[in-house]
Amino acid sequence: MEDIRIGIIGHGFMGHEHEKMLTKMEGIRLMGFSDIDPKQLEDVQEGLKRYASNEELIHDPQVDVVLIAANNNQHHDLVLQAARAGKDIICEKPVAMSLKELDEMVRVTKECGVKFTVHHQRRFDPDFRTAKAVYDSGTLGDIYTIKSSLYGFNGNMHDWHVYIAEGGGMLYDWGVHLLDQMLWMMPGAKIKSVFADIRNVINFEVDDYFKILMRFDNNITAEVELGTYYLTDKMNDKWFERHWFLGGNKGSAYVDGFEPEGKIVRTAGLLQNVGGRRTMTAAGPTRSFGPPPEGKILTETLPQVNTCHENYFENYIHAYHGQEEFLVKIPETRRVLALMDAVRESGRTGKSIDFE
Ligand SMILES: NC(=O)c1ccc[n+]([C@@H]2O[C@H](COP(=O)([O-])OP(=O)(O)OC[C@H]3O[C@@H](n4cnc5c(N)ncnc54)[C@H](O)[C@@H]3O)[C@@H](O)[C@H]2O)c1
Repeated sequence: MEDIRIGIIGHGFMGHEHEKMLTKMEGIRLMGFSDIDPKQLEDVQEGLKRYASNEELIHDPQVDVVLIAANNNQHHDLVLQAARAGKDIICEKPVAMSLKELDEMVRVTKECGVKFTVHHQRRFDPDFRTAKAVYDSGTLGDIYTIKSSLYGFNGNMHDWHVYIAEGGGMLYDWGVHLLDQMLWMMPGAKIKSVFADIRNVINFEVDDYFKILMRFDNNITAEVELGTYYLTDKMNDKWFERHWFLGGNKGSAYVDGFEPEGKIVRTAGLLQNVGGRRTMTAAGPTRSFGPPPEGKILTETLPQVNTCHENYFENYIHAYHGQEEFLVKIPETRRVLALMDAVRESGRTGKSIDFE
C-alpha cells in the first residue's frame, strides 16, 4: 500500500498535534503545512514543506489529502477549494458553521468525486469507549439515563474561540464532540425532543456553559453538561473533570476521568418494593435513602478498553484503501449540526424542541 500523502492547512494548536502524530504514523506521509499567518510556519519540522499559500498546497500534485485545521469559519471555503482541485479531504470538527454550509460542501465534494470525512477522533476516547462498552453489554438492564459532563475550573477561553464570527463558543468546540459521542453511542435511536440551557457566564459573545437534555425514542434521557468556569479549590494538575453516569433498572455505572476510573454497581435482578429500614441520617430519619438490602448489590470493575486517537487515522488509512468504511460519515456530522441548531433554538426560547 502506498503512503497517503497529506498536506495540512493551519499550523496552530491542532496543526501541531497532527504534525506530532502523523510524522510517526505508518501509512501516512505528511508533506507540509500552509497557514495564512507565515509566522505560524516558522517551527514546522525539518523535512516538511512550508507552502507559500493554501493554493500552492492544494495544487501540489504530491498531496493526496488536504487536512483542514484552520479556524471553524474557514472550513467551508477551504473544503470547496480542495475539492475543486480534486483532493480528498479531512476536515476538523465542527465540519461547518451551519447546515447550509455543510450541504454545499457535500454537494461539491460529491460532484468532484473526492473522499470527505471529519476528524472526530474523540470517538476513540477511552472514557467514552468505556461508557459505550457498559452500554453495549446490557449489564445495567433497561437504561433510562446517561449523563456526560465536562467541567473546567479556570474560565480559559482564548483567541478566536471567543468570537461568534470565527466559530467560537463551547458548543462548537467541545459540544460537537460530546453530542457526537452521545449519538454514536446509541446507533439507531432517534431523538424525540431537546431542551437546552446555554449561557454566557463570563464571555460576552460566545457560550461558555451549556446543559442539554435529549429524550430518545429508546426511553433514555441523555444529559450533556459542560462548564468552563466551575471554580473550585481542587489543585494539582486536575484542572478539569470528565464524568459519565449511566443508570439502568439493574444497575448504575460511574466512569470518571479521561483515563477512566469507576465501577459498575448492580443487582442480580430487579429490586422492587424494597422495604427500607428506618435509618437516622444527617438529613433526618429515612427509609427510602437508607442502606441497600444485604447481599443484593454487586460491585464490578469497568470493562477494559484499549483505544487512542491514533485509531482514527488507522481507520482512515484502511478506509482510504477501500478495506473498511470511514468511521466518521458525513450524514452523522450533519445530524450533529442539526441537533446543535435545535439546541440553540431551545436555548434562545427556553422551550423544548421536537426533533427527528
Ligand atoms: N479534533 C479536536 O480534538 C480538535 C482540537 C482542537 C481544535 N480543533 C479544531 O481545529 C481547528 C483549528 O483550531 P486550533 O485550536 O488549532 O486553532 P488555532 O488558532 O490554534 O490554529 C488555527 C490556525 O489556522 C490558521 N488559519 C486561519 N485561517 C486560515 C486560512 N484561511 N488559511 C490558512 N490558515 C489559516 C491560523 O493562522 C492558525 O495558525 C478548529 O476547527 C478547531 O475546532 C479540533
